[in-house]
Amino acid sequence: MATTGEASCSNVQSRVSVARRSYQVVIAATRDMGLGMNMKLPWDLPLEYRFFQDVTTKTSDPKKRNATIMGRKSWEATPLEIRPLPGRLNIVLSKSCCLNIDMIDENVLVCSSMESALELLATKPYYFSIEKVFVIGGGDLLRDYMNAPSCDAIHLTEVDISVPCDTFAPRVDTCLYRPWYSSFPIMENGTRYSFNTYVRRKDPVVGVVGTEDYWFLPKMVFERHEEFGYLNLAQNVISNGEMSDNGTTLSKFGCQMRFNLRKTFPLLTTKKVLWECVVEEILEFIKEKGTNHIWESDEAKEYLDSQELSKLSHVINKIKNNPIMFPPCNPFDLNLSVSPCQTLAQFYVADSELSCQIYQSSTEASLEIPYSIAAYSLLTCIVAHVCGLVAGDFIHVIGEAYVNKADVETIQKQLQISPKPFPILKLHPEKTKIESFEASDLELLQI
Ligand SMILES: NC(=O)c1ccc[n+]([C@@H]2O[C@H](COP(=O)([O-])OP(=O)(O)OC[C@H]3O[C@@H](n4cnc5c(N)ncnc54)[C@H](OP(=O)(O)O)[C@@H]3O)[C@@H](O)[C@H]2O)c1
Repeated sequence: MATTGEASCSNVQSRVSVARRSYQVVIAATRDMGLGMNMKLPWDLPLEYRFFQDVTTKTSDPKKRNATIMGRKSWEATPLEIRPLPGRLNIVLSKSCCLNIDMIDENVLVCSSMESALELLATKPYYFSIEKVFVIGGGDLLRDYMNAPSCDAIHLTEVDISVPCDTFAPRVDTCLYRPWYSSFPIMENGTRYSFNTYVRRKDPVVGVVGTEDYWFLPKMVFERHEEFGYLNLAQNVISNGEMSDNGTTLSKFGCQMRFNLRKTFPLLTTKKVLWECVVEEILEFIKEKGTNHIWESDEAKEYLDSQELSKLSHVINKIKNNPIMFPPCNPFDLNLSVSPCQTLAQFYVADSELSCQIYQSSTEASLEIPYSIAAYSLLTCIVAHVCGLVAGDFIHVIGEAYVNKADVETIQKQLQISPKPFPILKLHPEKTKIESFEASDLELLQI
C-alpha cells in the first residue's frame, strides 16, 4: 500500500483504540549529550553508522522489517542518497503538516504526534509486519520521549568529545534505566567512543518467573551481555570438553573472558554468587597478602624490603608513579591467590584506566570461575580507586577450565536462564588507602 503522511495521520487520530507500541531509542551523543550542529553530525564515524544501520535494520523474522521514527528536521538533515532509510518503515513526525514528501513511497509515513505513530504501529498491517520500533532523534523528539514510559531501551553511542552543538538529547535517567551492555572503547578517525545500551528498570514480580526478561532487545545487542562470555565457556566445556581418565570431569584447555569494569560490575546474574563472601575474602586478602612478602625471588624481596613496601602497596606505589604501562614478567606481576587456584595477575595502565589480567592454570567452571570473576574484578576496582584511576578491563585467562560431571545438569539449567543487567559498584569516595577499606565501603547498587 502506498501511503504518505496526511491521510494515514488523520485516520489515526479518528480511531478510538489506544493500544500503542513501545519503542527503543538509538542515538549517538557527545559528552554533553550534543547530537548535532547546523543540521549535521559533528563527527565522522563510519563504524558507528554501521552499528546504527545494523541495530535499526536487522530483524529476527526475515518477513518483517523495523520502523524508525524521526523528527521532521532529522528527516530533512538525512542525506538524500539514504533517504528514506532503506529496509525500514520511515515515520516522520511533523505537527505543522508542512512537510512536503513529494514522492509516493510506501516506506514513508508522516504522523502529527508520537502517540498517533505508536497507535498506528499497533494496528494492522503494521502490528504484524513491523518487528521493532526505533526512535532515532532529533533533540526535539528526545526531550519528551527518551525517558518516557513507552521507551524500553536506549542505545546510546557515547562519543568521547566536547564540541559545539546546537541540538541536545536529555541525559539517560539512571533512576529509570540500567546499563545492559557497554562496549570496550573504540577509536575511529582519532575519536574515542563506546556503544552503550540501557534498559528500563523492571521490578520483578515476586513469585512470577520471567517478568524480567530482555528478549525485546535487538539480538545483536542482547547477545553482547558479558555474562554470555561465561555461559559460552561453560557450554563449551560441557559440549566439547575432554573427559578425564576416571570419568569424573570434563575440561577445555585455553579459555579467555573479558569484562568491562567502567560502568557495571560482573557479578553473574544467572547464578547466585554471594557478594558478602567475595567482599570478605578480598578484604582478608588485602589485609594478609597486602602486608606480607610472598614473592619467591630474593631480588624482589630485597627490593621490597629496601623500600619498606608490602606486595600490594608496592604495586599501588608503582602504578601511581609510573602510570604508563607494565610489561609482562616484571615486579608488577603478582602471584595472587584469592580463590583456591594458583593465580598470576598483571596490571596495565593506559588512558588513566587500570586493567587487570589474571592467569589461572586450572579452575572449576560452576563455582570457582564466577567467584574469581567477581573477586579479581573487585580487587581491580579497589586498586584503581586508590591509585586515582578508573577501572578498565578485567581479563580472565584460564589454562584448564573443568566441570565436574555431577554439576553438568545444574549448569545446563543455568544456561536456560537469560542474564539480567549487571549491578553497579560504588566505592567510598574518600577512602584512598587500600588497607582502610571495610565492607561498608563497597556497595553494589541495582542488584
Ligand atoms: N546524533 C544523533 O544520533 C542524531 C540523531 C538524529 C538527529 N540528529 C541531529 O539533530 C538535529 C535535528 O534535531 P532537532 O531537535 O533540531 O529536530 P527534530 O527533533 O529532528 O525535528 C523537530 C521537528 O519534528 C517535529 N516534531 C517534534 N516533536 C514532535 C511531536 N511530538 N509531534 C509531532 N511532530 C514533532 C516538528 O516538526 P514541524 O516543525 O514540521 O511541526 C519539529 O519542528 C540535526 O542536527 C541532526 O543531524 C542527531
